[in-house]
Amino acid sequence: MSALLLGHDDEPALAEEDVPGPVIDLVDARKTYTTGAITFEALRGVTLRIDRGEYVAIMGPSGSGKSTLMNILGCLDVLTSGSYALAGHDVADLDEEDLADIRNREVGFVFQQFHLLPSLSAKGNVMLPLTYRQNPGQSARAARRAREEAAVRALDRVGLADKAPNRPGQMSGGQQQRVAVARALVGEPALILADEPTGNLDSSSTDDVLALFDELHASGRTVVLITHEDEVASRAARVVRVRDGLIAEDTGARSFPTAVTEQGATA
Ligand SMILES: Nc1ncnc2c1ncn2[C@@H]1O[C@H](COP(=O)(O)OP(=O)(O)OP(=O)(O)O)[C@@H](O)[C@H]1O
Ligand SMILES: [Mg+2]
Repeated sequence: MSALLLGHDDEPALAEEDVPGPVIDLVDARKTYTTGAITFEALRGVTLRIDRGEYVAIMGPSGSGKSTLMNILGCLDVLTSGSYALAGHDVADLDEEDLADIRNREVGFVFQQFHLLPSLSAKGNVMLPLTYRQNPGQSARAARRAREEAAVRALDRVGLADKAPNRPGQMSGGQQQRVAVARALVGEPALILADEPTGNLDSSSTDDVLALFDELHASGRTVVLITHEDEVASRAARVVRVRDGLIAEDTGARSFPTAVTEQGATA
């Protein structure tokens, strides 16, 4: 059951299950990087729709545009042209602040390098995405207690409740990545996005982390995972292969009923 989340102006946002449509609706996405006088088109017209509850692996050679795509999907970066709607929110309409808000509410990230804050405990790290969450009428103290309880529940879910007081430097790599998974799921985001989450792990920790993704998928979460490894991708029900900034293969592509918004510049 998803908690009622705060929107802007203290209006309760829609509970996740009330938002209709796909989690990811990306149409003719293009991303151009400019470095000095050189421009490079890292995404050259990508159309991708991912429905709620899907488990999708994104694969492709180095430099093909996978992380660029992930940055767009996670609202860490914006398109040069095309349209993107995340959980029903058209990202083009949002300013920096709203984008950060959507990112915080709708996306849980897991990175290859874990990206935990070294000075915080496991619990402190997992609480971070909840920092600004407070239900209407709730005292600051009660809100903090609720955030702590949610963090401990998330740590318990990844099998690390006993490591709640440990700092990242006091945990193994596999444990740190499980803390990162707890941080990704604690806010009940619409989407869990992982970029090479097992890239720095040994095979036993890889199995642990993949088992967690399997569980998240089984419990109805939407998981998008970037990987180089066939073994990792084989856990996902759908594989999208990216090559030279384009989708070369999509084992789960479906036709679009309608595009959400007007398309950007076309080729
Ligand atoms: N900030 C940037 N400025 C300029 N070019 C960039 C930038 N980020 C990425 N690129 C270029 O865009 C292309 C796609 O990069 P991206 O990081 O998306 O690849 P990738 O598929 O994630 O590769 P890898 O598997 O090595 O992580 C590359 O040619 C890269 O050099
Ligand atoms: Mg990458």
